[in-house]
Amino acid sequence: MKHTPQTKRVNRREFLQTSVKLSATALIATFGIHKMHGSATSPAKSVAIESVTLNNGVKMPILGFGTLYLTGSVGEKCVSDAIALGYRLIDTATIYNNEEAVGAGIKRSGIAREKLFVTSKVWVDDSGYEKTKKAFETSLNKLGLDYLDLYLIHRPRGDVKGSWRAMEELYLEGRIKAIGVSNFEPHQLNEILETCSIKPAVNQIETHAFFQQPDAHQYLKQHDIKLEAWSPFAQGRNGMFTNEVLASIGKKHKKTNAQISLRWHYQRGIIAIPRTSDKAHMAENLNIFDFELDRDEMAMISKLDLHTTQFPEWD
Ligand SMILES: NC(=O)c1ccc[n+]([C@@H]2O[C@H](COP(=O)([O-])OP(=O)(O)OC[C@H]3O[C@@H](n4cnc5c(N)ncnc54)[C@H](OP(=O)(O)O)[C@@H]3O)[C@@H](O)[C@H]2O)c1
Repeated sequence: MKHTPQTKRVNRREFLQTSVKLSATALIATFGIHKMHGSATSPAKSVAIESVTLNNGVKMPILGFGTLYLTGSVGEKCVSDAIALGYRLIDTATIYNNEEAVGAGIKRSGIAREKLFVTSKVWVDDSGYEKTKKAFETSLNKLGLDYLDLYLIHRPRGDVKGSWRAMEELYLEGRIKAIGVSNFEPHQLNEILETCSIKPAVNQIETHAFFQQPDAHQYLKQHDIKLEAWSPFAQGRNGMFTNEVLASIGKKHKKTNAQISLRWHYQRGIIAIPRTSDKAHMAENLNIFDFELDRDEMAMISKLDLHTTQFPEWD
């Protein structure tokens, strides 16, 4: 059949709608399909949070909730609100000083434990075999949980191999569903890969439109390790929320810069854990599964890469 420009347009739209539907159908049942409230830019609807499969078969939501700086009663409320809105992956760390608040938020939400995916991290002060084992128990106690879904070495400092051995044992005992690292460069990961008996499942690193980490991403793909993006908005630095390229793409899709950023992560297969203490932003950040960035739009975002960290003070 000969296509007129009109039928071509319709077919392309149909194609996009079908692919969005298909990816929605592929959305993983493990974490269920959650009702959420719409953002200011879109009405309320059902969305599903897709999960990725880690190299040990464990499923992890591709979009989650970060909790840095969310401490005390604010942290508790944010975690509980986030879960109510549909978030299932919650990211914390010993150094955030909020594991008790996160645990209280989980409890307050009333959700069944197995529906959640909870991550924590061992801080550098607790590196080494014995200290990591102890730090893990402390984290679990503070969180009020009896297992973690993911436990990460927060930074590649100190006795990393000792920590890894402790984590492998905890994993084999079933106390952690998956183990991984954070802020590791390829050469540091290589050192673990050379001697480990359990491969890291995840590397959580700074990744956003201004620091896209293509080489690290490629390396991780080659080793079947998932990239999880911390600070997916670069905490708004460098004008992320007002950036004109993101805004021009957003205008076309009736989405905000935040949503365009998160969609860009999602289409690259990257797990993202945006943080917000604003309930409307929580809903907005979940509302990224009903549109698609085309190749040109992905290329426009690729050009925003500044190839350097936006957090030099943390290096
Ligand atoms: N492994 C590591 O070393 C490491 C390092 C840093 C972070 N992390 C993890 O990654 C998570 C995310 O990173 P992050 O907390 O540094 O920052 P982020 O998620 O990049 O940005 C958080 C900032 O974005 C704002 N925001 C969120 N949604 C928004 C929206 N829709 N519109 C406008 N503003 C919005 C928030 O303000 P409002 O509260 O006003 O919305 C907040 O100021 C952390 O919470 C933590 O769990 C890990």
